[in-house]
Amino acid sequence: MKKSPTILTGMRVNSVITLGNFLGALLPMVRLANKHSDSSEINIFVPDLHSIIDSVDGELQANLVRSLKYYLAAGLEITPHVHLYRQSRVPAHSELCWILNCVATMGELNRMTQFKDKSSGKDSVGVGIFDYPVLMASDILLYDATYIPVGEDQFQHIELTRRLAERFNKKYGDIFVLPATPKEQVEFMSVNDGIRIRDLQNPEKKMSKSTPSPNSKIMLSDEPSAAARKIMSATTDSLGKIQYDMFNQPGISNLLQIEALLNDLPLQDVISTWAGETHYGDLKQKVAESVQTFLEVFQEKLADIDDGVVFDLLQTGEVYANTVANQKLHEVQKCVGLR
Ligand code: TYM
Repeated sequence: MKKSPTILTGMRVNSVITLGNFLGALLPMVRLANKHSDSSEINIFVPDLHSIIDSVDGELQANLVRSLKYYLAAGLEITPHVHLYRQSRVPAHSELCWILNCVATMGELNRMTQFKDKSSGKDSVGVGIFDYPVLMASDILLYDATYIPVGEDQFQHIELTRRLAERFNKKYGDIFVLPATPKEQVEFMSVNDGIRIRDLQNPEKKMSKSTPSPNSKIMLSDEPSAAARKIMSATTDSLGKIQYDMFNQPGISNLLQIEALLNDLPLQDVISTWAGETHYGDLKQKVAESVQTFLEVFQEKLADIDDGVVFDLLQTGEVYANTVANQKLHEVQKCVGLR
């Protein structure tokens, strides 16, 4: 019998997360998990090793627990196929990373946009940020994961993962399952394109937690009415036409995208609802209400989840993850002559 594909994702934990992280990766993961967890393995992990790259955050442990609570507050249903774990508690991730470092080339890591963005203009750049995608590839390949719900900014890393797996397989046989292509990922998530939620003040850019301006981003910890005000003051354009055109009208398109994702509606339906309308204020009002209601409900649910629930899930999840990951690592070690 053919094994159902494994679905896997991770989200770093340095601080509270943005609506971009939520809509780009977390919510799609929860929706896919709830739809497929009777047949697929669902791996949700905290890349805590990736989280110490930027700076070692004294709050890491508290943030880690909270980041897993986000999935539960977003409606993740726990079944025996749902596995929660910490990357650092499964040492096979680091072990495979080293082996894949011997497969990856400096040239291909140098070309990663995230590395270029984070290193540009700096005199000194840590090796961690350079090697980030190889650890990410290990996170995926250890579990034969096919679908990886992530935002569009991470697609390049998925492509790299496919390339490393292909290179390894070519030499040693079919050891790794290749994750689906970005196009297949998008189809599986039932979204039009890769999701990239935009900065509210500068919609040419993606919404990012590192942007200093508080009005540019909505954090899941924002007071709901304050978040609604940020939507009301979002940058739009002067074309006076509500339509989806990320190139010429990124601000308006971003609002349509947020409205669709928050209400679990096909983007096309939201676009049709607003087609022919010209009052940007009406659209902003509607999206502001959606954001406010979402945050009110989400924050209430989050406050009700006990730390103990998360630790219980981690305990069983980490036993599972170590078993699966060690099996794959063992195979890989045999291939390269370490066993
Ligand atoms: P991180 O923590 O930087 O981002 C978490 C997820 O949020 C998505 N994201 C966005 N999506 C849409 N619009 C935005 N404005 C936006 N900003 C962030 C990111 O694409 C990501 O999916 N490298 C991963 C963490 C990771 C991982 C993995 C994921 C490590 N290993 C293995 C999947 C599989 C990352 O970017 O985390």
